[in-house]
Amino acid sequence: MDLFSNIEEEINELKEKINKANIDYYINDNPTLSDAEYDALMEELKHLEEDYPNLKTPDSPTQRVGAPIQSDFGKITHIVPCLSLGNIFSKEEFLNFNETCKKTLALDKEPEYCCELKFDGLAISVTYENGIMTKAATRGDGYTGEDITLNAKTIHSIPLKLNTDTPPKIIEIRGEIILTHKEFKRINDQIDAENEKIAKENEVREKEGKKLRAYKNLFSNCRNAAAGSVRQLDPSVTASRNLLMFCYGLGGMEGVSFETHSESLLKMKEWGFNLNPNYKVCSSVDEVCDYIDYIGTIKNTLEYDCDGLVIKINNLRMQEEMGYVARSPKYATAYKFPGLQVKTKLKDIFVQVGRTGAITPVADLEPVNINGALISRATLHNLSEIRRKDIKIGDMVYVQRAGEVIPEVVSVVKEERDGTEKEFNMPTVCPVCGAPVITTDTVYRCSDKENCPAQIKHSIVHFVSKGAMNIDGVGPQIIDLFLDNNLIKKVSDLYKLKEEDIISIYYTDLEKYKKSSQYKKEGFKAVSNIINSIESSKDTTLGRFIYSLGIRHVGEKTGQVLADVYGSVEALKNTTEEDLAKIPDVGEIMAKSIYNWFQNEDNLNLLDELLNCGIKLKTEEKNTKAEFLGKTVVFTGKLNLMTRSEAEALVRNLGGKASSSVSKSTFLVVAGENAGSKLDKAREFGVNIMTEEEFMELVNK
Ligand code: IVH
Repeated sequence: MDLFSNIEEEINELKEKINKANIDYYINDNPTLSDAEYDALMEELKHLEEDYPNLKTPDSPTQRVGAPIQSDFGKITHIVPCLSLGNIFSKEEFLNFNETCKKTLALDKEPEYCCELKFDGLAISVTYENGIMTKAATRGDGYTGEDITLNAKTIHSIPLKLNTDTPPKIIEIRGEIILTHKEFKRINDQIDAENEKIAKENEVREKEGKKLRAYKNLFSNCRNAAAGSVRQLDPSVTASRNLLMFCYGLGGMEGVSFETHSESLLKMKEWGFNLNPNYKVCSSVDEVCDYIDYIGTIKNTLEYDCDGLVIKINNLRMQEEMGYVARSPKYATAYKFPGLQVKTKLKDIFVQVGRTGAITPVADLEPVNINGALISRATLHNLSEIRRKDIKIGDMVYVQRAGEVIPEVVSVVKEERDGTEKEFNMPTVCPVCGAPVITTDTVYRCSDKENCPAQIKHSIVHFVSKGAMNIDGVGPQIIDLFLDNNLIKKVSDLYKLKEEDIISIYYTDLEKYKKSSQYKKEGFKAVSNIINSIESSKDTTLGRFIYSLGIRHVGEKTGQVLADVYGSVEALKNTTEEDLAKIPDVGEIMAKSIYNWFQNEDNLNLLDELLNCGIKLKTEEKNTKAEFLGKTVVFTGKLNLMTRSEAEALVRNLGGKASSSVSKSTFLVVAGENAGSKLDKAREFGVNIMTEEEFMELVNK
């Protein structure tokens, strides 16, 4: 054995010892080395790596610190999108969720559920290639996140190397980055201390007539502090924040598979991740409800924030069979604990006009602090809710805020009324444009869709939003600025904006800005960023584009379904209301709304203008057939006329969906040679069954 391989062996041994010590300390909460022993091993490893730089590998524990300051975060596209969850707020809603699962999966009994804590932090996706951590990204828009690899490497509960000799070829580990309450306090105390120093320095500066130094903001809660710590351009700041990661799921993977979610959690623990001990596999709804109660009783004793539970179907095949709605899977839901309720005065009620002209009442409150956020507005939903809760202007009310959810007025303290309270009525004209308000059932709507400034503004905000054209950096304030300065009147005008137009309105005092150090540093970068993101939004998908048009009732998921079924704007434009209504995810109301949208001349002009701006839609040419629109087809057994993927592509081209599992809602099962259990299931559910030849006959008819 030569000297080199001896050194390599020594390095590997050191790495193994340090990795084990890390797992014992950070994951198992059971330190096996003293600090001095640990430091000595790290020092030795550092020295060896300095002497033999070609033996330094990215998974070495020395690589956690010392990365340079970055100028920006790059982008990473997730192999499998990072989805979000729907929320429920009561056990009754969980029972409804369970019924939907049973129905979709055609089960007589509830499926097994895996219940976990819902951590209140920041989602992260970490990629391992052949067991070595290669990338880490934030959730971002679900499809693409920010590259936070260097920062993630400083977090000790994220292994740099999976603890196994047989790693999968590739795997995305999903989890939540959090800060403990203790760490949160330590960081804020540190900021406090820095601010005190700044205050003292400013006293001197003020006397000397120098510019005062700005104070640092305290973090308002653990989640903001965790997010702020992860999104630091200097990884050494992240390293100083003692962040933790709890693993809760997998994204893309190759070279490994699991039957159940709980099995994957245990595997992640084995690989060296932090698996929170508070999770339970439940085989009945009662068990789930008991576990919700149990977590409710212990949640305030935890050292970190938890705002509820995540309830997931445990079997992974069943998960897949449940499908998705927009960006949320239907196999899981977040049970949110009721938010803190705080009493305050309802000073007034005003109304807001939304994108579709819907007019909704909003409470103007005496500001109150709820869980670290100052709340002065809350939703009142609609007039019938106001009447049902008997809310009057001037009442003392309870306001509730649960997690990300918009604060709402929950109830009135009637005992505190003094007779001066006033009943609220909806306006008869639009408060923004003065057009008459039209009422249908409980909905009040401004009648001037074309000219109402509120509707115009909201339609533009919708157009640029994440799920639509995703124009990063153009939010409601900038849109206001553009509208107020007559730079835009409708969405297509965004694509005609020039850098000079924006510069002249973006910097209120252009001459002063040109003299500032900011200008010397970055010139008009903020404006060119806006122009660039408008430009790059032109490369989009048909589904997003359809959603961005703001057709009433058409959400992100329907946008995608319509894109899958029709394949082009032209085909969608020329379809009939009857054809649209035949699509299972669409239905009559939506079909009417979509059809009518394409009959309106103003809409068609806008569509032409948008397409003439150079928007490039990723689409497939489709050859749809009415009987397949939106329907699910399953192929089973050995096919002779075509391969499985050709058959599935054919179904998609016909406007249908291909699936690998049979459920009650399957439209057709095509059975090849030696078809097995899927064929039995199809018979049991009474699903149409055809041979490959019969299927081709139907396709070619
Ligand atoms: S699973 C498709 N499990 O909640 C399901 N998420 O809206 C993907 N979260 O951004 C998430 N604790 O960061 C899952 N035990 C848990 C979680 C959890 C917290 C966060 C997650 C995501 C959000 C879902």
